[in-house]
Amino acid sequence: MTPKSPKLREVLEGIPTYKPGRPPAVEDDGAPAYKLSSNENPYPPLPGVLEVAIATARSFNRYPDLACAALTVELAEHLGVPESHIAAGTGSVGVAQQLVQITSGPGDEVMYAWRSFEAYPIITRISGATAVQVPLAADETHDLDAMADAITDRTRLIFVCNPNNPTGTAVSRAALERFLDRVPQDVLVVLDEAYKEFIRAAEGEGEEIPDGIEIYRDRPNVAVLRTFSKAYGLAGLRIGFAVAHEPVAEALRKTAVPFGVSQLAQDAAVASLRAEGALMERVEALVAERARVYEGLTAQGWTVPATQANFVWLRLGERTADFAAAAEAAGVTVRPFAGEGVRITIGETQANDLLLRMAEAFRKEL
Ligand SMILES: Cc1ncc(COP(=O)(O)O)c(C=O)c1O
Repeated sequence: MTPKSPKLREVLEGIPTYKPGRPPAVEDDGAPAYKLSSNENPYPPLPGVLEVAIATARSFNRYPDLACAALTVELAEHLGVPESHIAAGTGSVGVAQQLVQITSGPGDEVMYAWRSFEAYPIITRISGATAVQVPLAADETHDLDAMADAITDRTRLIFVCNPNNPTGTAVSRAALERFLDRVPQDVLVVLDEAYKEFIRAAEGEGEEIPDGIEIYRDRPNVAVLRTFSKAYGLAGLRIGFAVAHEPVAEALRKTAVPFGVSQLAQDAAVASLRAEGALMERVEALVAERARVYEGLTAQGWTVPATQANFVWLRLGERTADFAAAAEAAGVTVRPFAGEGVRITIGETQANDLLLRMAEAFRKEL
């Protein structure tokens, strides 16, 4: 008798698998190799954070604080929002999954730009909802008019990734507000601001890039998603949060995996918030490196969309895989999206130097 397998939900068939950025290749000659494939922060933990984490590690026989109370107090003060508007989770991707869970199931539509953060289709399909992917505009930014046009009476959730992963492009405050004015009030709009800290107003352009916290205040159907993984450098500890009005924040707390956010993550996040000065210095250094990489690549002749995140995007089409292979051979791993392009994280100076040299050589052979 052939053993029967357990019956699993049909929606699981065909769900794309999340592809993590490849680790750096090990070089035979001992030359350093760098990982520019996951938008991580190249710096060690902020001052004082490791000490706090080590002290907390001594009590990991205990469950963490289910309510993430100390972090909630700290965040509420930091952002100037009520404590009841904060819901922490296992990375912002964990909170994003909860946002889908609390709004959308079979028959409902979840909308987002495409290409955008690759977890959106996965978490949408897991919930059984239908994904509505609205192509980016020709300049690699969200096509917010097309997104507003695509809203139906089944739309329940819309992700606006600002700046967008993997293109780095940002929507302006005026464009976002125009869009939000067109979204029905019973549709939740999630402003995914994983890369918020890297935003710098484009000089001379005069286009203000919105801060989700200002936008959500008088819009009950807007939630903001933030993370400690990128600028704060806590990717490995898995902690992120949403800021949303009470009904949404409350639903998020209900759907959280109990004790999902470790005490290590909670305490490290609090300590990181208290190291704001050092954070700013590091972010500034990465923003300066970003400008150097951007200018270097454009001087070589590449078309690089203006980026507000800690990465740049090269639309390489069919040369994508070749570029990724050449980068790896040169000692830097980047993130290829087959047939579309590569996303290159801004890393340590040496890694960025390697990338620029390799991109120049690759360009000459085009
Ligand atoms: C746009 C965006 N949102 C959310 C995340 C999830 O980050 P985390 O779960 O580490 O907070 C990422 C990570 O790459 C991202 O690019």
